[in-house]
Amino acid sequence: MKKLLKNYFEKAKKEHWAIGHFNFSTAEQLKAIVEAAAECKSPVMVATSEGETKFIGRQQAVALVKSWQGLGYPVWLNADHHKSFDSIEEAVDEGYDTVLIDASKLPYDENVKLTKQVVEFAKMKDPLYMVEGELGYLKGDSKIETKVEISPDDYTKPEQAREFVMRTGVDRLAIVFGNIHGIVTEQSERLDIDRLKAVVAAVPETYLVLHGASGLPAEDIREAIKNGITNVHINTEIRVAYHDALQKELKDDPSETTPYKMLQLSFDETKRVVKEKLELFGSVGKI
Ligand code: G3H
Repeated sequence: MKKLLKNYFEKAKKEHWAIGHFNFSTAEQLKAIVEAAAECKSPVMVATSEGETKFIGRQQAVALVKSWQGLGYPVWLNADHHKSFDSIEEAVDEGYDTVLIDASKLPYDENVKLTKQVVEFAKMKDPLYMVEGELGYLKGDSKIETKVEISPDDYTKPEQAREFVMRTGVDRLAIVFGNIHGIVTEQSERLDIDRLKAVVAAVPETYLVLHGASGLPAEDIREAIKNGITNVHINTEIRVAYHDALQKELKDDPSETTPYKMLQLSFDETKRVVKEKLELFGSVGKI
């Protein structure tokens, strides 16, 4: 499975499309993502952050994803935004297919040190293990907010990215070039494609990851993929789709108490949004 993930990244980079990455914290969200990807014939990454992991359970997330992999679906489980060596160690040991060590809020040298420690640990377990690091200040949370202040000072610096990749040995790098986590209602979120191009030129061998893609205009995402992004993360938009559908369902039929009935619309809406994104990322038909 790990070799296959690398192969898909290579293919995506060569052909200028991106692998979709979606977070989940319940079994039906995962099912909706995998079914959407299967219907689109797209490889897909699914993930739990530390908070999502706490809710669904580390071993349970692994077992659920393995059940889909066992049926032949090209789906990989990522430990998303894991902040400590201990939580990464737990994820690798329990069977996560890949990890993101997010030490971006630490001073630069500490980020390098922790990320390098994770790369050495994961690759000792399996040389094919893909590790992602993060550089730049990616603000916001995966929810709806009014405004999130950002400035070019928060963006990933190309020269620093080159040094970071050389010193840590990461396979993927999460970068900041105008992206934020979540959806903002009183501000327009736009990407700085020139900054992306400069980072691509500085680290041409590294797979670059766009986090915080919820709320971004489709043309910005398309442009980012055209210019070297090979992996796009979506969380807030599928959370909102799930939430709004559930709210509607409970309002329309307040007497419904059967979970599989009241969750059907949330399931369908999650699937719809995932399909829309896979199409936007150009990954349809890539299996
Ligand atoms: O890793 C998770 C993503 O970066 C989520 O960002 O909530 O803005 O879609 P988003």
